[in-house]
Amino acid sequence: MKKDLIDIRDYSMEEINELIALAGRIIKNPEAYADVCRGKKLATLFYEASTRTRLSFEAAMLDLGGSILGFSEATSSSAAKGESVADTAKTVQCFADIIAMRHPKEGAPQVAANKVNIPVINAGDGGHNHPTQTLTDLLTIHMEKGRLDTLTVGCCGDLKFGRTVHSLIAAMSRYENVRFVLISPEELVIPEHVRTEILDNHNVPYKELRSLDAAMPELDILYMTRVQRERFFNEADYVRLKDSYILAPDKLFSAKPDLAILHPLPRVNEISVAVDDDPRACYFKQVAYGKFIRMALIMKLLGVSI
Ligand code: NCD
Repeated sequence: MKKDLIDIRDYSMEEINELIALAGRIIKNPEAYADVCRGKKLATLFYEASTRTRLSFEAAMLDLGGSILGFSEATSSSAAKGESVADTAKTVQCFADIIAMRHPKEGAPQVAANKVNIPVINAGDGGHNHPTQTLTDLLTIHMEKGRLDTLTVGCCGDLKFGRTVHSLIAAMSRYENVRFVLISPEELVIPEHVRTEILDNHNVPYKELRSLDAAMPELDILYMTRVQRERFFNEADYVRLKDSYILAPDKLFSAKPDLAILHPLPRVNEISVAVDDDPRACYFKQVAYGKFIRMALIMKLLGVSI
């Protein structure tokens, strides 16, 4: 049976560990994988803006020797004429072996997955989930810290609409001794379903704070996020909340010397560029890791190996 990746919890911890291990082998010896997807095609169906996710999927497939096709905005596809996601997916499966889809509507990649018999990867659905960003984040944390357990993870910013945070919490809640510190304005706290279905359900320790300064000293990982302007109903609310947290070098005086600062990017204002030179800043390394974990994922879903 084909396997999709819609929610990070579709994969067991063992499967995630295998992907991380495969990505590690690809990083060490990329030439060995340069041809494994020869003759295979990846379709990237992006109904919403993207730089890193789409390009890293495409670079991943190209580096595996495969080919790519797709669209990068809904207006350049038949969605502009009113075609349904299901019909578009059924069309694309005539041309491609695997689909990566980003869509502003929650659940759209699942709708596509239900209709086709090629694997579908959720590349971000509305404010819901972003499982391949989470695989990227897990690989980054594993490379930086050498472990995925026994960590205090601070998530800061827009925890309500930030789909990367929802998927990261779902994934990391399964590891031993992981605690979360959730730092957000009152209006942008974590959604109730993440709180009850993931954190409470698995008895994961967490606390909620308004102040990044108060959280900083205990953090092993600081996961900064952008306020998700496109999900707000009201521009005035966005403007009021957008600069709630700005990570600048002075904020890091109280941080651990081995803190790892992650951000799924794009950043707007929430990390000052002066932080980029701090050895604890991992967000551009994180971009690079994103291609390697997507290479591993494409190989797994297409059932290819060396
Ligand atoms: C994130 C996304 O699209 O959710 N970006 C990404 O894929 N790296 C984060 C964001 O847009 O804020």
